[in-house]
Amino acid sequence: MAKLIAGNWKMFKGPTETLAFFDAFESPENVEVVICPPFVSLEAAVAEEWPVFAQNVHWAEEGAFTGEISARMLVELGVQGSLVGHSERRLYFGETDETVRQRAEAALGAGLGVIACVGETEAEREAGETEAVLRRQVAVLPRHEALVIAYEPVWAIGTGRTATPELAQEAHALIKSLHETRVLYGGSVKPENAAELLSQPAVDGALVGGASLDAASFSSLCRIAASLS
Ligand code: PGA
Repeated sequence: MAKLIAGNWKMFKGPTETLAFFDAFESPENVEVVICPPFVSLEAAVAEEWPVFAQNVHWAEEGAFTGEISARMLVELGVQGSLVGHSERRLYFGETDETVRQRAEAALGAGLGVIACVGETEAEREAGETEAVLRRQVAVLPRHEALVIAYEPVWAIGTGRTATPELAQEAHALIKSLHETRVLYGGSVKPENAAELLSQPAVDGALVGGASLDAASFSSLCRIAASLS
């Protein structure tokens, strides 16, 4: 099965920079690529005829939820899915396992795909709680063929520290024993470490932050993934 590589742009790139990215981005065949731009750049990205996911989605169909976006609105725009439960949402915006579940269910119910993020913090890993945290976070996720899980150890996100391939494999194998789905690895993935991570048997792809912002670097990451599919 082809690897799935998702680029999470976080709060980077307005519509103009989005178009510039696609002018320079080249992806080989034999890899599934998804781009997750900020809300204001979704329309520009969708116009490039590329699979586009939002970075978040609300569970209600509509209502008095200032600053939120519904699944139906994303569908109307031609967006194909959404991230849910990214650790930055959990850390800075009060996201809980329960709201992650609600967001995932609403998105799937509207026909969107979902990449649901799970992962332990450094303190949780050091306290020996990794397995309990992953079990708790995965337990709430709906069973659905359009849901993919991203394992992102929080201590590896944006830090340059990557889980060893063995550690990633171990966490992915646990997640797969709990939930029958593809599991992406995330946390400082870049062209230099992609091959060793993506060649682990339980690593079905990657969720890439920093290294997805530069078209040349993201293109080379996608080429590496294609060569391993
Ligand atoms: P990073 O981010 O690749 O910059 O570590 C990954 C993520 O947060 O999805």
